[in-house]
Amino acid sequence: MQRLTLFTGVPVPLVTGSADADQPVDLVNAYSYPLPITVICELIGIPAVRRDDFRRWSSVFVNAAVCTAEEYIEATTSMLAFVHELIVQKQQAPTDDLLSALIATRDGSDRLSEDELTSMVFLLLAAGHETTVSLITNGVHALLRHPDQLELLMKEPERLPTAVEEILRYDGPLQAAIPYVASAPIDIAGTRIEAGEVIVFALLPANRDVRKVERADELDITRTDTAHLAFGHGIHHCLGAPLARLEGRLALGLLFERFPQLRLAVPEQDPPRHPSLLMNAIRELPVVLRPQPVASAEHRVNTPE
Ligand code: HEM
Repeated sequence: MQRLTLFTGVPVPLVTGSADADQPVDLVNAYSYPLPITVICELIGIPAVRRDDFRRWSSVFVNAAVCTAEEYIEATTSMLAFVHELIVQKQQAPTDDLLSALIATRDGSDRLSEDELTSMVFLLLAAGHETTVSLITNGVHALLRHPDQLELLMKEPERLPTAVEEILRYDGPLQAAIPYVASAPIDIAGTRIEAGEVIVFALLPANRDVRKVERADELDITRTDTAHLAFGHGIHHCLGAPLARLEGRLALGLLFERFPQLRLAVPEQDPPRHPSLLMNAIRELPVVLRPQPVASAEHRVNTPE
């Protein structure tokens, strides 16, 4: 079996089969990516053969802080060219997907300009999967670090919806919302912001604000009043929030149902995160799906040599 050494120094198999269930595997690659990327590509109508390209470009966006300008420009121009090409294809041969429906809206009643259509597809592609990948990874990580909460969730799976909300609050996928520019002067909590100034809403600290949340640094899946800001607020509140919630519930529920003994392969280390001002994304999370049972002392004593 070919192996890959992760940033954490853990060798993981490149392909996970049941024979390797007791070996470390990178959860991000093996599990967190496939569901959101498949869903968003199916929804928009991106052919399966282009999904790897698409994933490569979007990984440049997530790693923008450490990419060169050339890499960033290459990824953006390639992705824009791809979106244009796709729009032309769907225009000629519409299929049953969101992009064909958006094109029909543009062509039918002129409600979407060419630029609006392109940027909408770009936004959906970029916003629609990396965030959900992190919801799944951060969620698994948070639960594995809090065995009492995981045990409660496994005993009472009906808590999954509130558990996902708590994960979004406790370790949400975005550090901050997209920067805003003040169109007029405004006072916010005693701070004057002039027209033209850039405002960055730091979502993670807001979600741990002790004035709003009791025991804000604790993961507690029994909270019912998690009024978190992980999906933003107001007019630009996340369009994909219901879909992301559904994917998060499915992914976490199914994973722990299938692998109830799942554990961190390197429990003593915090997993590396992408160096990004926007994303709060774990880069890799080595886990063991089904640890080998450890023979008990009694068993060993009674076992004949
Ligand atoms: C856990 C996963 C997700 C998180 C944490 C998240 C977070 C956010 C946040 C914070 C915003 C607001 C940004 C701002 O105020 O400027 C936003 C906007 C948006 N999100 Fe999400 N998102 C997630 C999943 C998705 C998915 C799955 C889709 C698409 C299917 C999506 C599509 C969008 C779009 C189109 C907007 C822009 C809405 C607007 O400007 O009116 N998001 N998201």
